Amino acid sequence: MTTSAHTLQHVHLPLTRPVVLVGLMGAGKSTIGRRLATVLDLPFIDSDNEIVEAAGCSIADLFETYGEAIFRDLEQRVLMRLVSGSPCVLATGGGAFINPQIREAIKERAISVWLKADLEILLERVSRRDTRPLLKTGDKGAILSRLMDERYPVYAHADITIDSNAGLHEAVVENVVHALQQIPADKL
Ligand code: S3P
Repeated sequence: MTTSAHTLQHVHLPLTRPVVLVGLMGAGKSTIGRRLATVLDLPFIDSDNEIVEAAGCSIADLFETYGEAIFRDLEQRVLMRLVSGSPCVLATGGGAFINPQIREAIKERAISVWLKADLEILLERVSRRDTRPLLKTGDKGAILSRLMDERYPVYAHADITIDSNAGLHEAVVENVVHALQQIPADKL
């Protein structure tokens, strides 16, 4: 097994609630979330995967066959269940925190972390996969830029904001851990 200077040590936090990662497509919610869960020794849950499991088909198929509204209903049901669950690291789809009901539940029952990235970085990351239905309807840069205008003021309500631009994932994880360590134990 190889080790590097950036291998992260386990960190124990007396968490009683989920840590929920929010942010736009390509912000690194799943990648950072998986690593963060390892560091905190918590289960990692990706809400999009839970939706796929509940629906029995892919997100792309859900959008195509049933439409976005049905996806959002399912997303809300899945998220309401997960944010009320035991401590974990939960990566959400980019639209989840924009839904007022979901956002309220997250604010009430979890700790929210906005992974904030610039357009260039998001665009580079989303271009690696072509599975996101919202990005298939036009120019990816223009769509992301519009979503940034609409959503960044809402993501800004998260408890913690972390810069998720270029750089090692480990550094971003370390910054999230550091921010979580600043939260008083009775709020964890
Ligand atoms: C969406 C983001 C996607 C997925 C769905 C809708 C959005 O998740 O939930 O395609 O509204 O931004 P990722 O942010 O994980 O790509």
